[in-house]
Amino acid sequence: MFAARCVFLLLLAVVASTRGANILGLFSSHSPSHLIIHMSVAKALAEAGHNVTVVSMLKPTITHKDITVIVVPMKKEQELVMENQMSVMAGQKNSLFSTMNRILNDMDVMIKAQAELLSDPRFLRIYETKFDLMILGYFINDFQLGVAAKLKVPVIVDWMSAPVPIIEKFTGNPSEISYVPIMGTVVTHPMSFFNRIENLAKSLIFKYIIVAFEYKLFRIYKEVFPAKDQPTLDELRKNISMVFVGCHLNSEGPIRALVPAIVEIGGIQVKDKPDTLPKDIDTFLNKSKQGAVFLSLGSNIKSSSVKPEIVQTLFKVLSGLKQNVIWKWEDLEKTPGNASNILYKNWLPQDDILAHPNTKLFITHAGKGGITEAQYHGVPMVALPIFGDQHGNAGVMEKSGYGVALDLLTITEDSLKEAVEEVLGNEKYRQAIGKFSALYRDRPLTPKQLVVYWTEYILKHRGAPHLQSPAVHMSFIELNNLDIYALILTILVLFVFLTRLVGKLIWKKFWGTTKISKAKKNQ
Ligand SMILES: *[C@@H]1O[C@H](CO)[C@@H](O)[C@H](O)[C@H]1NC(C)=O
Ligand SMILES: *[C@@H]1O[C@H](CO)[C@@H](O)[C@H](O)[C@H]1NC(C)=O
Repeated sequence: MFAARCVFLLLLAVVASTRGANILGLFSSHSPSHLIIHMSVAKALAEAGHNVTVVSMLKPTITHKDITVIVVPMKKEQELVMENQMSVMAGQKNSLFSTMNRILNDMDVMIKAQAELLSDPRFLRIYETKFDLMILGYFINDFQLGVAAKLKVPVIVDWMSAPVPIIEKFTGNPSEISYVPIMGTVVTHPMSFFNRIENLAKSLIFKYIIVAFEYKLFRIYKEVFPAKDQPTLDELRKNISMVFVGCHLNSEGPIRALVPAIVEIGGIQVKDKPDTLPKDIDTFLNKSKQGAVFLSLGSNIKSSSVKPEIVQTLFKVLSGLKQNVIWKWEDLEKTPGNASNILYKNWLPQDDILAHPNTKLFITHAGKGGITEAQYHGVPMVALPIFGDQHGNAGVMEKSGYGVALDLLTITEDSLKEAVEEVLGNEKYRQAIGKFSALYRDRPLTPKQLVVYWTEYILKHRGAPHLQSPAVHMSFIELNNLDIYALILTILVLFVFLTRLVGKLIWKKFWGTTKISKAKKNQ
């Protein structure tokens, strides 16, 4: 009887360790689109029966009854800085590098606020709960790994796109810069000599910028976790169990090696089945017999911070279409203009609209999230990128044949009209993206199932050091065998040197010394 009860309790303990676990999601990025991805991971886990506690700066749009959300917003003045910086960025062309430089300097509240959050009383309450696992929504905030060390739990990192150098560093994944284009670079394969020069140069500059970031991150880590027995940030980075990445390279390419600790969950935010649309949108789409165009310039940039001339250009072209248009616009009091074929809404269920069969074109700022949803549902695009990785995303989208990319800041009525009519009129875009959509959905497990499986795996085995590539624990020199090459080079140099010395000695012995010393004097 006693034995049976013990077995029962033991079983209960095992079950309890994987089912109904207490999971902390630390998602403090200020970007709503990042939050959507991370919340989709949290929701998959809540649906599988886990108790998830999420800490974020923004109120998430994705919710679930088993997700407790603790919102610690940015301070007012930080919020203002962010808004100003976003409008500055909307008014100019920004490369990946200038964006990173901005985050490092004028917009560093983005990092600072994520550090300050860790000592906010609302956040500190989390230490009262016994957690089993932490998921870190990564955006230049790995100093937050210190939280997991204090909770003594394994960590999964969630990153919203394909692996970048820092993710490769966390997992020991090889960085194949000779054929994997660095974020924001558009190439066709095989990469030409000049493509490869460009890629190498960019990744070196990137490395240099990262050094500047590292300095900041290590300093913040020391400030937030000053305790003597606190492990170093480097130790914590080497203790990450797994990284979820928001991509699916089998369909997106380029095909490359990924270590088992990198799990692709691209498309996690896309619902398996669309929700019913709000009544007005549903009616509007259903009566769009000629098809509908959906315009959204994303959540980072308020529509009103785009220059009025550009808004007017958009309005003139779209109001002249025979198709209906759904336009995401914040200020419904002051819309760009009235037209019978345009419906303005300040909040829109993007995924569900793209899933509607009458949606024929998506005009987008080319954020990764929107492009993913359009690709999933097979809707061709006109991309109007603004900053950061958007130009790169737009370029890749166009190269893949899913639509046309323009630069938002330089569009004219003619160029926009031509692009919109081309994508609406030419079947080839719809066919290309439809083919992609079929590949994208064809996976052994859905992104949600992958998240649940691997999270429970990490819970069950209490971390996954066995899954870790040995490369994680090697220095740059060891990893690239530079010490061995140095040794070989030294031996070669010594060999040449000794051969010359011996040669000289032999010369001396047979032809005498005088000649040589004379010759030397004459030189
Ligand atoms: C779920 O998490 C919350 C903390 O957010 C905690 O207060 C609660 O006790 C947890 N529930 C269970 C059943 O562990
Ligand atoms: C390292 O990760 C394991 C789980 O994989 C965890 O139990 C342990 O507390 C972590 N160590 C530190 C120093 O955070």
